[in-house]
Amino acid sequence: MEKKLSDIRTDFIKGGLERDDLSPDPLTQIQQWVEQAVSARVDEPTAMLLSTVDQQGIPDARVVLLKGIEDGLIFYTNYESVKGQQLAQNANVSVVFFWPQLERQIRLRGVAEKLLPAASDVYFASRPRESQLGAWASPQSSSIESYEWLEKNYFFYVDRFQQTDAIPRPPYWGGYRVTPLSVEFWQGRPGRMHQRYRYARNEAEAWQINVLAP
Ligand SMILES: Cc1cc2nc3c(=O)[nH]c(=O)nc-3n(C[C@H](O)[C@H](O)[C@H](O)COP(=O)(O)O)c2cc1C
Repeated sequence: MEKKLSDIRTDFIKGGLERDDLSPDPLTQIQQWVEQAVSARVDEPTAMLLSTVDQQGIPDARVVLLKGIEDGLIFYTNYESVKGQQLAQNANVSVVFFWPQLERQIRLRGVAEKLLPAASDVYFASRPRESQLGAWASPQSSSIESYEWLEKNYFFYVDRFQQTDAIPRPPYWGGYRVTPLSVEFWQGRPGRMHQRYRYARNEAEAWQINVLAP
């Protein structure tokens, strides 16, 4: 007989997280958890769900990849994409990481700002040539007539840059830094006694950690 959905339970026994083991800085704590997800060889350890809001205040979420932690979370995208347009209107975001194998979740609320062009140039230069060409070829989030159109456009740029060793960064492509306003770490525990720790800044702008009921 098939298992009833309500009978499916994972025992959250992977590991505990004590208040005293938390880094005083949430970005350092995120870095540790991302590194542990990488070491644990989970799928897409750097994948994060990024939510923006549209002009009506309706949330919109998609996955992007974390590419660095430097005073915030760094990701790269097309500035003219839907998310890019939404961020230009409203820089408030939320980010979620979920690593099922580690029974861990991170929830973050923060503000996104564009990286300086020079920083985006450095990262763009480090990408494989195919990805660089893809960034030129794809008007991300626009309606296009067909996938063949996209392939044609890709080969247009293959030709255009044939003699170019270092493909320049498209002006409409680059990075964002998400500066956290609050961050919550969730660790699954047996008996649904999950651990939640929430970092938020106090009046003196120092990070304060609260323990939350699961
Ligand atoms: C695993 C995964 C990783 C992705 N990484 C990125 C990324 O780093 N940057 C990006 O622009 N889109 C990435 N995407 C695609 C986005 O989810 C999304 O389709 C795209 O950015 C367009 O979103 P928008 O129309 O809301 O702007 C990724 C998708 C998946 C499933």
